[in-house]
Amino acid sequence: MAAMPYPTGTIVNDGGHLEIGGCDVIELAREFGTPAYLFAVDEMRDRARAYQRSFAAHTDRFEVLFASKALPVTAAYRLFAEEGLSVDVASGGELTMALKAGFDPAKIYMHGNNKTDAELALAGASGVGHLIVDSFDEIERCERVLAKDQDVLIRVTPGIKPSTHSFIQTGQLDSKFGFGLEDGTAARAIERVLESDRLNLVGLHFHIGSQIFEIEPFRLAVEALGELRGEWCEILDLGGGLGISYGEGDSPPEIEEYVNLKVQAVRDVFGDGVKILIEPGRSLVGTAGVTIYTIGTIKEIPGVRTYVAVDGGMSDNLRPMLYDAKYTAVIADRANDPADTRVTVAGSHCESGDILIRDVDLADPRVGDILLTPATGAYGHSMANNYNGMPRPPVIFCENGEARVVVRRESWDDLLTRDM
Ligand code: LLP
Repeated sequence: MAAMPYPTGTIVNDGGHLEIGGCDVIELAREFGTPAYLFAVDEMRDRARAYQRSFAAHTDRFEVLFASKALPVTAAYRLFAEEGLSVDVASGGELTMALKAGFDPAKIYMHGNNKTDAELALAGASGVGHLIVDSFDEIERCERVLAKDQDVLIRVTPGIKPSTHSFIQTGQLDSKFGFGLEDGTAARAIERVLESDRLNLVGLHFHIGSQIFEIEPFRLAVEALGELRGEWCEILDLGGGLGISYGEGDSPPEIEEYVNLKVQAVRDVFGDGVKILIEPGRSLVGTAGVTIYTIGTIKEIPGVRTYVAVDGGMSDNLRPMLYDAKYTAVIADRANDPADTRVTVAGSHCESGDILIRDVDLADPRVGDILLTPATGAYGHSMANNYNGMPRPPVIFCENGEARVVVRRESWDDLLTRDM
């Protein structure tokens, strides 16, 4: 069990079943059906607290923002608001959910490389604390749409590439996001915003990528930003990006180590005067969540491979197909049995690429078993889709043995609700 990236508190009970947040996974599957996303609420809280504790050891001038694209669920916004976090929203939809969850608008930071008039108007009308300005067009649009003065940060692409999948690298000059440092556009954007009588420049932002294990690039990014600093710079928002373990062989840095490096880098370059913001998404919710499926079909091709097909796939977890992301799995009914049968876990979609895990060892999988994939808490639900008319799974929060459905399962009829 040690190598599996389960949420803290996960155990195997006397019946051999996995328990997440004190809830027997097999009972949950019976009660709520599969596929389903299960979350250990304690792990989300623990991680939020670890971030805050790590900062508090250095300074009281910090904010930890929940990057809500990782899990845009009203109950998650509410939980992190309770924990005292701020929030990063990347669209009018995420903003609507954050507001609905009761987030103090002053603690909302709004991103987006192409914010629309409607999104900016909603942000302005609801009193969003800060916009992260991403382009010259947006600056003009803000001046046209916003009715009152607005605090903003400028998003800079510092020209640093962390080692991660190229689709989730975002800090390089050749990016659709932000203002480039190397080509002088960041400096021009600063001048432009300082001249604006609608926008009030208070800081800088960067986000260099996601699922990052090597933390040195964050220091390099802070150093790169140093050349832009000015009197106006009260806030530095250093983005998210800390990686998590998806299975054996993954050893991400601890939250504390990552925060220490970021704080030290800011101190070295900008001194003690600035407030430091970070925007973790994956590392708050990723390992807190697991997905459960039912095995429906087993197809053995002698001498080739055995396909174990589950009742979900690329509609509930696109990451293997988009990023070649590797997952692991366990038969949750017999979690202590030796995993001695090598199989490939396929989804139910009409597409050969709908493979969740190629070559994983499971404990003698059988039709009707509950297969659980750990570490699906981030960017699973948020990138879910209805391909092949597949209803999206429910989101279930598990805490102290109580399971609470916070997003219900879609029904087949739900798929008809937008028809005119
Ligand atoms: N801040 C900004 C501006 C971002 O764009 C992101 C993620 C984050 C914070 C949070 O990053 P995290 O701490 O989660 O690494 N769908 C991809 C990940 C895309 C990340 C997009 N931006 C995946 O499933 O791997």
